[in-house]
Amino acid sequence: MDRRKIIIDTDPGQDDAAAIMMAFAHPEKLEILGLCAVAGNVPLSFTSRNLRIVCELCGRPDAAVYEGALKPLNRPQVTAEHVHGRTGLDGVELPEPVMAAQAKHAVDFIIDTLRSEPAGTVTLCTLGPLTNIALALTKAPDIAGRARELVMMGGGFFEGGNITPAAEFNIYVDPEAAKIVFASGMPIVMMPLDVTHQLLTTKARVAKIAALGARPAQVLVDWLAFFERFDIEKYGSDGGPLHDPSVIAYLLKPELFSGRDCNVEIETESELTVGMTVVDWWHVTERPRNVKVMRDVDADGFFDLLAESVARL
Ligand code: RIB
Ligand code: CA
Repeated sequence: MDRRKIIIDTDPGQDDAAAIMMAFAHPEKLEILGLCAVAGNVPLSFTSRNLRIVCELCGRPDAAVYEGALKPLNRPQVTAEHVHGRTGLDGVELPEPVMAAQAKHAVDFIIDTLRSEPAGTVTLCTLGPLTNIALALTKAPDIAGRARELVMMGGGFFEGGNITPAAEFNIYVDPEAAKIVFASGMPIVMMPLDVTHQLLTTKARVAKIAALGARPAQVLVDWLAFFERFDIEKYGSDGGPLHDPSVIAYLLKPELFSGRDCNVEIETESELTVGMTVVDWWHVTERPRNVKVMRDVDADGFFDLLAESVARL
């Protein structure tokens, strides 16, 4: 595998933290050019704080963290403290971060990086609402043709939604941003709830991470214990779906996943279905197949990769 240059855009979130830990664990495969905080699970002040906490936990206080959008393009902010807790990283008491965020705005960092790196070499990895990406595309439409691809956690189809019956949280928070991104022509790989609902933090899988013993593993186990409680109650399952690390796992081991190229459109009008990702899985329309939609995953292989990654930190 070639060493990939990536930008991570994220709204930590315990599951975002797991994804970022996985990314930092493979420096020989992933060159993280920068990490961008966006408002989502919790307000930007917390997502920026949390992102820097995760960087320091991974021994990377040198990482470049940028702060992005304070709110969606043109809707009131919707957050998910009911899942992630007041801070977004509830479950573990950790000191406030020492490292500071960069002065440059995340949107300008994304634009400048895509323009300065050779075309087709930088992968955008989004773990939260797509507000920063949409702002960058609006300010600099030329970047759509310069990204290698955008790999995102978001959406759902056969699995429905998780914040409304029709919509998944990352899309629901800023559907206008998602509409801009999905229409941009940028190559997109989508990790929807159809995949992430197969990635359950079962007791056996979490026990393997706990057995690693080191502090990063223990912190992650405590974060997962907090994060999964809401979904265990909701779904009655053994463990909760671990969404965001699917994006990084795809970069490291794409063979864990399978899906197909489909047309995906974003519903932004109806109050009933706003934020829905309408996936033309059976190709019943002639609309362009703008997204590689993942549907199946080797869940045990994914959790083996997560444990191997955390063991490296
Ligand atoms: O719907 C799940 C997604 O919303 C995950 O990215 C989670 O962190 C929240 O952002
Ligand atoms: Ca997230």
